[in-house]
Amino acid sequence: MRVLVAGANGQVGQHIVRFLAEGGHEVRAMIRDEGQAQRLRELGGEPIVADLEGEVSHTVEGCDAVILSAGGGPGSGPEKKETVDRGGAVKLIEAAQEHGTRRYVMVSAMGAADPDSGSEAMQPYLYAKAQADQTLQESGLDYTIVRPGSLTDDQGTGTVEAAPSLGKRGEIPREDAARVIVATLERENTFGKIFEVLSGDTPIEEAIDSL
Ligand SMILES: NC(=O)c1ccc[n+]([C@@H]2O[C@H](COP(=O)([O-])OP(=O)(O)OC[C@H]3O[C@@H](n4cnc5c(N)ncnc54)[C@H](OP(=O)(O)O)[C@@H]3O)[C@@H](O)[C@H]2O)c1
Repeated sequence: MRVLVAGANGQVGQHIVRFLAEGGHEVRAMIRDEGQAQRLRELGGEPIVADLEGEVSHTVEGCDAVILSAGGGPGSGPEKKETVDRGGAVKLIEAAQEHGTRRYVMVSAMGAADPDSGSEAMQPYLYAKAQADQTLQESGLDYTIVRPGSLTDDQGTGTVEAAPSLGKRGEIPREDAARVIVATLERENTFGKIFEVLSGDTPIEEAIDSL
């Protein structure tokens, strides 16, 4: 597949680009800074410079799928949650509709199911994620919404726990979260589904197949 990855230079995004390329996919890697291009090429992506706060529709043209792994980041204020985490995700949903790109995988977050349960500081982020997720659910696209727990830089284990609702909080290495997202991409059993994912004992493909 030809896949647009938004947030390709991010900590999860770089793993996603590498795993997609290793799996034989053609990866269009959205970056904000030309200086990031060489790194993305080394990972197997074809960089495209664009900013989710600006015009991005053209980045989806010719793609079979979109993976949204961008985010304003923990250091950003509520405005970025609105313009990047919600607004950027929605722009790419609209672009996918416009260009006939059916598949959309959203990197959401555990807690977006119930934003009010988050701390005051987390709520703008969780509401932005929840609103983007809802727009995607209503989009008519073949979507999957992946809600990882707290991301860590630990080495991936290849095993996770995944379910529509896990009923608990926890962590997952970014590398495993990326493997889950890539495994989800082509699995039709995940179309139209939302699921949470944490570190666990089940091999990733088995965990995704049983959703
Ligand atoms: N941190 C957690 O514990 C946690 C938990 C659950 C879900 N998540 C979500 O998981 C996803 C990936 O997380 P991560 O750790 O990989 O985050 P990250 O390292 O901060 O990566 C986010 C990426 O988004 C890009 N970005 C920011 N603003 C943008 C804009 N206006 N236009 C285009 N790209 C933009 C950044 O670009 P630059 O590289 O140029 O800065 C960066 O590459 C995010 O959506 C995050 O909200 C995080």
